[in-house]
Amino acid sequence: MSKDYLAVQASYGRCTRQKGFITRFYELLLDRDERIRKMFSTTDWSQQNRALRRGISIALTYAGGSDIVERSMNEMADVHSRKGRAPVDPELYRHWRESLLQAVEEFDPRLTSELRQDWADALRKTTDYFTAKY
Ligand code: HEM
Repeated sequence: MSKDYLAVQASYGRCTRQKGFITRFYELLLDRDERIRKMFSTTDWSQQNRALRRGISIALTYAGGSDIVERSMNEMADVHSRKGRAPVDPELYRHWRESLLQAVEEFDPRLTSELRQDWADALRKTTDYFTAKY
């Protein structure tokens, strides 16, 4: 049986209710690799922050085994595929997962090691999906 990741969803809620969570995540992500920084050189950040907030929520729902978000997952995977608008080399996804985990550590005061592991598993499912569709 797949896990529903409700505790991860709740943790995500605690993070996004605070100002600066997504901005901090992007700061960490862009610092990790020059290739990533370059990809975001012309980005409209208020739009991107909104897109990612929604994207993470979709990713957690998907990780929980719900197929209601399959179409949204496919659209995001397409954007990041070889032929997409913003292709992402799958080897970069590790940076995405680690930056997000670090931001969660900084923002969720109720994070435990078990919850952190659940986060890691859920994010891995998402990036595995994108990698398979690359
Ligand atoms: C290293 C990993 C990643 C990099 C470097 C990356 C990079 C980008 C870039 C450059 C854009 C376009 C920004 C612009 O319009 O200027 C984008 C859009 C987006 N990304 Fe990512 N991304 C990554 C991972 C992910 C993951 C794992 C998700 C899923 C939760 C995601 C969700 C989105 C969404 C929802 C958009 C907006 C798409 C749209 O405008 O239609 N990204 N990303």
